[in-house]
Amino acid sequence: MQNQIFAIAVDGPAGAGKSTIARLAAERLGFIYVDTGAMYRAIALFCLRQGIRPEDEKEVSSGIAEAQITIRHQNGTQRVLLNGEDVSGQIRTEEVGKTASAVSAYPAVRAHLLGLQRGLAASASVIMDGRDIGTCVLPKAQAKIFLTASPKVRAMRRFKELKEKGEMCNLQEIEQDIIERDQRDKNRAIAPLKQAEDAILVDGSDMSIDQVVSAIIEVAKTRGLLVR
Ligand code: DC
Repeated sequence: MQNQIFAIAVDGPAGAGKSTIARLAAERLGFIYVDTGAMYRAIALFCLRQGIRPEDEKEVSSGIAEAQITIRHQNGTQRVLLNGEDVSGQIRTEEVGKTASAVSAYPAVRAHLLGLQRGLAASASVIMDGRDIGTCVLPKAQAKIFLTASPKVRAMRRFKELKEKGEMCNLQEIEQDIIERDQRDKNRAIAPLKQAEDAILVDGSDMSIDQVVSAIIEVAKTRGLLVR
């Protein structure tokens, strides 16, 4: 199994800590960490820059033909490129996040990114995080985790992050946004946020980062991953 390609799918709602946890677990395992949310965010940024209205499915679906998303890894960190420009920093705003949530509901947007996601998993062992990795993108992933935390805990984490960045924010508004985004991600017709049948549920509300990382590695071991 050691020389074989291994895939760990980590799905869950916004702010559950998927990216931090998946990045750390990837580091420990020597896997590549793939953040698929960043790809949807890059598409959202493209729409915002081009004046494409996120609520207009037709406009988005045809417009994104011009958006080429590529992923690079630098010292274990994922960089996302939009038509050759590194936009990894610019995609981390609330506006881009909201727009990503809206446009990710469109089949054309998901189809636009699927090949890129599967291609990365075919080329190396990955931990890929998103909403539909275990259910749609990598249904054959050897280990699947559904990582969640209560909206209150997630809102508080986001609030602290934004404060550290010096951004104005309101805890109640953040919690409301999180609840709304969960609803949108869960209720969309295509590739909704859902725990895969064979995924292990991890509620990280009262767990430390280290505990969650270890839990994920344990799940992967039970699914055949050999760790030296
Ligand atoms: O994980 P994130 O907040 O960076 O993701 C931004 C949005 O992209 C999220 O609201 C839903 C969407 N997304 C998705 O639909 N499927 C994925 N695999 C990853 C993200």
